[in-house]
Amino acid sequence: MRRPYIAGNWKMNMTPSEGAKFAKELAEAYKAAGADCKIMIGCPYVDLPAVAEAVKGSDIIVAAQNMANHTSGAYTGEVSPLMLKDLGIKTVILGHSERRQYYGETDEIINSKVLLAIAEEMDVDLCVGETLEEREGGKLEEVLTRQLEVGLKGVSADDMARITIAYEPVWAIGTGKTATPEDADSAHAFIRSVVERLYSKDIAENLIIQYGGSVKASNVKALMAKENIDGALVGGASLSLEQFMPIVAFNK
Ligand code: 13P
Repeated sequence: MRRPYIAGNWKMNMTPSEGAKFAKELAEAYKAAGADCKIMIGCPYVDLPAVAEAVKGSDIIVAAQNMANHTSGAYTGEVSPLMLKDLGIKTVILGHSERRQYYGETDEIINSKVLLAIAEEMDVDLCVGETLEEREGGKLEEVLTRQLEVGLKGVSADDMARITIAYEPVWAIGTGKTATPEDADSAHAFIRSVVERLYSKDIAENLIIQYGGSVKASNVKALMAKENIDGALVGGASLSLEQFMPIVAFNK
């Protein structure tokens, strides 16, 4: 049984004080709603201490949106997993398409971050997904295969328990265009088949695969009803309680 996993990715939104206030309200609303999914919020680095403090004692997991692929050293502007762990942060989103597109993160760089996060006993939400050009060029499966094969290279079968995959088609992110539940489900089924080939049927069946890309209250139920969709990674709609709570409590 795969437990639904709903995550909010704030991207570069919310100051530390705004984030802490919002997170506290979210923790209260989550409890009041009796929502029983796994829930995470991915916050900007500087928000992490205040947000972690604000949700203390709740079930909300606070995650970083990125991290360095080194533990320390001369890497100006970077944040080490050791720094995150010192704040009690044990989950990290890696390989987001915005990191790939705007900051030149390759599958190899992302893989080095995945391996380091695992070595530091952190949980990883690894994002994969194709651009519109790749989809229209018939390259969906090729792109997902490469992102998974390279992104997960060196990750042991045991460590797959630390991995969640987020399928985020780039053309659906922040555009209001959601993949149809059928298209998303079929991409998720393909991801599961790659993981089965790389690992085992058991690992593939237990893998949590989130969908991300314009998830909102109005489409979450249809997406989550699909066999291979186990959760959501939500951008814009994770920034207000009015929009995020119906997603978190989709099964209520
Ligand atoms: P939107 O929900 O704003 O489309 O963003 C999706 C996303 O990129 C989450 O990581």
